[in-house]
Amino acid sequence: MKTLRARLSKDAAALALGADKVAAALARQAQARGLTLELTRTGSRGMVWLEPLLEIEGEHGWRAFGPMAPDDIGAVLGGTSLKSLGNIADHPWLKRQTRLIFARCGSIDPASTRGLGFAGLKRAREIGPAAVLEEVAKSGLRGRGGAGFPTGIKWKGAAEARAAQKYIVCNADEGDSGTFADRMLMEGDPFLLIEAMAVAGFAVGATKGYLYIRSEYPHAVAAMERAIDVARAESLLGSEFDIEIRVGAGSYVCGEETALLESIEGKRGQVRAKPPLPVHRGLFGAPTIINNVLTFAAVPSILERGAASYAALGSGRSRGTMPIQLAGDIKHGGLFEAPFGLTLGELVNDVGGGTSSGRPIRAVQVGGPLGAYFPPALFDTPFDYEAFAARDGLIGHGGVVVFNDSVDMAAQARFAMEFCAIESCGKCTPCRIGSVRGMEVVDRIVRGEKRGENLALLRDLCATMRAGSLCALGGFVPYPVLSALEHFAEDFTR
Ligand SMILES: Cc1cc2nc3c(=O)[nH]c(=O)nc-3n(C[C@H](O)[C@H](O)[C@H](O)COP(=O)(O)O)c2cc1C
Ligand code: SF4
Repeated sequence: MKTLRARLSKDAAALALGADKVAAALARQAQARGLTLELTRTGSRGMVWLEPLLEIEGEHGWRAFGPMAPDDIGAVLGGTSLKSLGNIADHPWLKRQTRLIFARCGSIDPASTRGLGFAGLKRAREIGPAAVLEEVAKSGLRGRGGAGFPTGIKWKGAAEARAAQKYIVCNADEGDSGTFADRMLMEGDPFLLIEAMAVAGFAVGATKGYLYIRSEYPHAVAAMERAIDVARAESLLGSEFDIEIRVGAGSYVCGEETALLESIEGKRGQVRAKPPLPVHRGLFGAPTIINNVLTFAAVPSILERGAASYAALGSGRSRGTMPIQLAGDIKHGGLFEAPFGLTLGELVNDVGGGTSSGRPIRAVQVGGPLGAYFPPALFDTPFDYEAFAARDGLIGHGGVVVFNDSVDMAAQARFAMEFCAIESCGKCTPCRIGSVRGMEVVDRIVRGEKRGENLALLRDLCATMRAGSLCALGGFVPYPVLSALEHFAEDFTR
């Protein structure tokens, strides 16, 4: 019997778009044609507008087809499909990227270690903990969770801490709007994250890792559970390190590192005052490294390729690559990993192809719900931490959400305050009460009540929240509010 080899994504986005129905149709058609089907369910390549993306091995190598519907299978197997994309590795959208973190995602079986070299972990064991710390520092890697803190400094702090027990915590709470890179990686290449956490444990002398995943990610939880079981069964982590999964309960603020630690400890997710920093007193009072999924996942390629080659990529003080997530009203939405430095305009117009609705772009929010709204006039801003900060913005976790000209920016500003009010952990007054007052002030401005006074009050309130909030939830909410006011003032006068 002839064998039909195929790859089809099992990523949550592909499933939502009907990948399982495509898989079932493929199985039926293969059987009807007397073919033995060898189907690998992969993660996603990140080209969401082409999902479900099917790859078939033929005489001339692999060919991709997408977006697939169950009825398309006949034409694909009959060689008459109009949805052929050729060899997906040659697709211009993929070729334009520098995939270090997502190099394997979409082409490998996330449930198996077959073909994985674990070269980063091997090199770490060869060169020893001190040299690993040196490599991470030299690479210029900064935290991808939002704050952009230098990873090398954090790891060094934990390594120098004297304690019988230390912890590695991976932050996979991924609450920012328009972001999905952590999820895609955990579903598509879970062993990369396991390898990276083991490297971190080795480097700082921690024996236990916790992976905190939001409950809205059941496929990622399942993929990571399966991979951790395999890693244990195949003794990948050695006897000196183990990882446990904790599932969050759906709170945005539990992504904040100290609230996350409280949550793992079984307490209410409330932010802790700093100091002490988690590297000194973190989980259960022990020195703890807490990093985002993407931060950890960059480390194996840094060790494999060398810090210098990683540091050679990027712009300014933003080194390496950033997995940028294009979402909202955008034609080519998905995950695009590239060195820092592409401009916002290149990302949304060139890479993203403009809006999917065909309407003009009016605003782009970068960095999640606490990120600033940028108008097209600022599209020359390079995607790097300092360039965005210089324009009162932030890149956060790399989420880029595109809004067309139907957006009401006063409503978006109000939403930012409302979001803060709903998600506030309640520990400090500027955030807990200021956000509620903020909604009321925006409402009064939009109604035209004492406009001058209320505009001054809104700015004053934002300044207070910025300076007086304990964490970035209350502290950063002024970014979306003030950017909406500054760049789209006309929406506040209707
Ligand atoms: C309200 C709030 C929510 C956050 N949510 C996340 C999150 O979902 N994922 C994440 O990695 N970092 C999040 N952060 C940032 C973390 O506090 C912390 O900076 C990060 O986990 C450190 O890892 P990194 O250095 O690798 O970025 C959040 C911060 C705040 C203030
Ligand atoms: S700013 Fe908001 S979320 Fe952060 S500690 Fe204060 S009340 Fe809690």
